[in-house]
Order: sequence, then structure tokens, then C-alpha cells
Amino acid sequence: MLQQVVFGSATVNYYFQSTVQALSQWYPTAQTIFITDQHIAALYPQVFLGRKTLVVPAGEQSKTMETIASLSAQLLQMQAGRDTIFVGIGGGVITDITGFLASVYKRGVRFGFVPTSLLAMVDAAVGGKNGVNLDVHKNIIGTIRQPDFILFDTSFLATLPRSEWSNGFAEIIKYACIFDEALFAQLAGTDLSAFQHDFGAASQVIARCVAWKNQTVQADEHEHGQRKLLNFGHTVAHAIENTEAIAHGQAVSIGMVVACGISAHVSGLDPTVAGQLKALLQQYGLPAGRALNADRVMEVLINDKKRKGDDIDYIVLEKIGRAAVMPLPLSLIDREIRNYDSNH
Ligand SMILES: NC(=O)c1ccc[n+]([C@@H]2O[C@H](COP(=O)([O-])OP(=O)(O)OC[C@H]3O[C@@H](n4cnc5c(N)ncnc54)[C@H](O)[C@@H]3O)[C@@H](O)[C@H]2O)c1
Repeated sequence: MLQQVVFGSATVNYYFQSTVQALSQWYPTAQTIFITDQHIAALYPQVFLGRKTLVVPAGEQSKTMETIASLSAQLLQMQAGRDTIFVGIGGGVITDITGFLASVYKRGVRFGFVPTSLLAMVDAAVGGKNGVNLDVHKNIIGTIRQPDFILFDTSFLATLPRSEWSNGFAEIIKYACIFDEALFAQLAGTDLSAFQHDFGAASQVIARCVAWKNQTVQADEHEHGQRKLLNFGHTVAHAIENTEAIAHGQAVSIGMVVACGISAHVSGLDPTVAGQLKALLQQYGLPAGRALNADRVMEVLINDKKRKGDDIDYIVLEKIGRAAVMPLPLSLIDREIRNYDSNH
């Protein structure tokens, strides 16, 4: 099912409920170069058979400028020209690397994504942000550039480990918190295993989250206002993801709990919401608490992209389904993190 979404001057083709094999109908095999990680290459050898493919080690540690330099050197060796189309097939690490590489290689080539993790399907592949890390600083070097296409093939989810399903649900729960009270209620009424056994239900939730993200990015592609709402839970998440070496979804989960605590003080959020959120996160195999090293978190926050002087644009909840951007002094966040009760 093709849906075309317009972002400024770019039109992105969304192929929902499709298969990776269908790609060659629209993008000639000779013109495409697949980029993937070692896990996906090993799990799905048939997808890469007869395809020009670049493979990087799986995991966040590959999201570096060194990887971009190494892939660029390999592309030059392959004589990849500006008419090439890069296709990132993998989780968010691969979509971020592919989008960034395609934005800078020879000053820009076309690219598309086949997200294979739930997190990449609902979030990382969507919206045009691409980037790599520098030391512990997440996505600090990057671009905003839309892909030509995103193809959704949920059959990949059959091999996704349960912990990665949980990570994807951290972002799904984020959409529910900031935009969609009905989705929050739907998720509360079921659990992770139900979705793992019903890809139809998973597809529906994926499409719903993609629609929320597209709508937000269409209104504010360059994150001057509304798009910031998508960072709910992410300020602290980005600070702990690399310093504590935990998965993005787990970091977001903890970040959302911290944000609920802060919201109860600054935006009038009913204090019982934090308890509801913690219960929902646990229902989807996500952590609601963790001991935080406040000094280390604050060190990273100083360099956060959303900081302006002594304030940081922080996303607070007003109620389930409604969020707001609020400039908060770093000192307040520092105090809240120090008061944060890791014993959920
Ligand atoms: N650009 C954005 O807007 C955006 C948004 C959210 C997250 N992100 C980024 O996305 C990354 C997290 O994404 P992720 O959780 O997909 O990480 P990931 O790419 O590291 O994938 C997680 C693990 O799952 C494996 N995997 C992926 N698909 C699989 C499948 N079908 N079967 C078996 N194993 C599979 C991967 O090999 C990896 O080991 C972070 O770097 C984060 O910063 C970017």
C-alpha cells in the first residue's frame, strides 16, 4: 500500500504492508547499494544475494564518523556514483548511518529505508533526522534530509528479540503519552506477547505512530516548535544512553518516568500518572527506575542540542495525550534528577 507524504519540497513514498523483495520493482537492482548490520546480514542472507551490500558491526558503537569514513572509502572503491541509491536495511543504527552517509557522500545521493526493528519502524526511520554520535554525545553530528522511500516489511519482526520489541514499545508509549490517550488505554489493555503473536495488530499500531510522527514533522520539519514534543523522555535518555551503555528504548523509558516527576511539579500533571506510566512500561518489559549518576547526566546535558544558555527546552506532560515544551533551568533538572527515586 503506497502512501505519499510531502515534507516541504520532498515527497516520501511509504510502502506499508510490503515486502523487501518488492523493492526491485521501483528501484533498479543495479542502481542500489544495500547497507545493513552483521545480525541482519546473517539472519536474512537471501535478501542480500546478488546485491551490492555494505555490512557494519551491529550496535550503537557503529554510529560514528569512523564508520562513515570507512563506508565512504568502500563506496569509492565500488565506484559508486551520485546516481546510486543507498538502502538502509536494519534497525535505527543502520537507518541513521545510511541517511547521514547518503547526505554527505559526494554531497548527497538518494536513499531509502527498510526498517527491521520495531523502534526503527515507529520512529528512527521516519522524519528525516539522520546522525552519528561523538563519544557519549548522541546524534551530535547529523542532517535533516528525507529519504525517497520507507518500506515496511513486518515479516522481519519474526526474528526480533523480545528485548528489542520492548525497546520499540518505549517509543510507542511515548506517542501515546504525548498525543494519543486512546492508544495509551489500548496498550494498557493488552501486553507485549499479544503483539508478538499478532503482526496485524502490530502493523496497525506502527501505522498509527508513523502518522503521528509524519503529522508532527510536516508541521515543523526543522524542530522550531511542535517537533520538540517528540523528545519527551529523550533529554535524560540521551544523557544516560551512552554514559550508562543501555539501549535507546530503555533509556527513553527511564527518561519518561523522570519527565513525569518533573511535570508533576511544573505543568500540573496529576501525580498518579507516573504510577500508570510505570505500570505500562513494566507491562512491556521496560524499566521504570534505575540509579542515575546525576553528575554524569548533567555533564552531558550541558552539551544537549536543546540547551539555550542556562535553560533547556524540556518536554513536560500536562495529561496523558497532551505535552508541552517548557524552557526549564538546568538547575531544576539537576535537582529533580538528584531527587529521582530509582526504587520504582
Ligand atoms: N533518527 C531518528 O529520528 C531516530 C529516532 C529514534 C531512534 N534513533 C536511533 O535509533 C537507534 C536505536 O534503534 P534500534 O533500537 O533499532 O537499534 P539497532 O539498530 O541497534 O537495533 C537493535 C538490535 O536489533 C537487531 N535487529 C534489528 N532488526 C532485527 C530483526 N528483524 N531481527 C533480529 N534482530 C534485529 C540489530 O541488529 C541490533 O542488534 C539509536 O541509535 C537511536 O539514536 C534515531
